[in-house]
Amino acid sequence: MLSKTISFNLNGKKEIVDIDLRETLLEVLRYKLGLTGTKCGCNVGECGACTVIIDGETIDTCLYLAVWADGKDVTTIEGLEKDGELSKVQKAFVDEGAVQCGFCTPGFIMSATVLVERGEKLCEEEIRRELSGNLCRC
Ligand code: FES
Repeated sequence: MLSKTISFNLNGKKEIVDIDLRETLLEVLRYKLGLTGTKCGCNVGECGACTVIIDGETIDTCLYLAVWADGKDVTTIEGLEKDGELSKVQKAFVDEGAVQCGFCTPGFIMSATVLVERGEKLCEEEIRRELSGNLCRC
């Protein structure tokens, strides 16, 4: 096994973890760090259930090797809440009942968060296109 110790900023805290170089960030988040809010849907980059924010960009963690996160700033769905308060996007999803089974919801929220943070005025069609990498199977 080829292994390495990586260090990255995870949800505002420094994280140091031993990884197998073949592991994806999704596997490390869920199975080594216990952050199960990031979901595994397709595992091939099609559904967006595994979306997190890395250095301000959305990333499908099922296709992203954990070693690539070394030195980066990673935010998962668990990191959006601050001091017990949901983020604006999380609140909006709750307020609008934007949940079916809930499996795709974390990925949608991460993508929507980056979209909101970009601060662009977009029409509905543009927003739909921007979120088209996230699929709801309900
Ligand atoms: Fe990563 Fe579907 S689980 S895109």
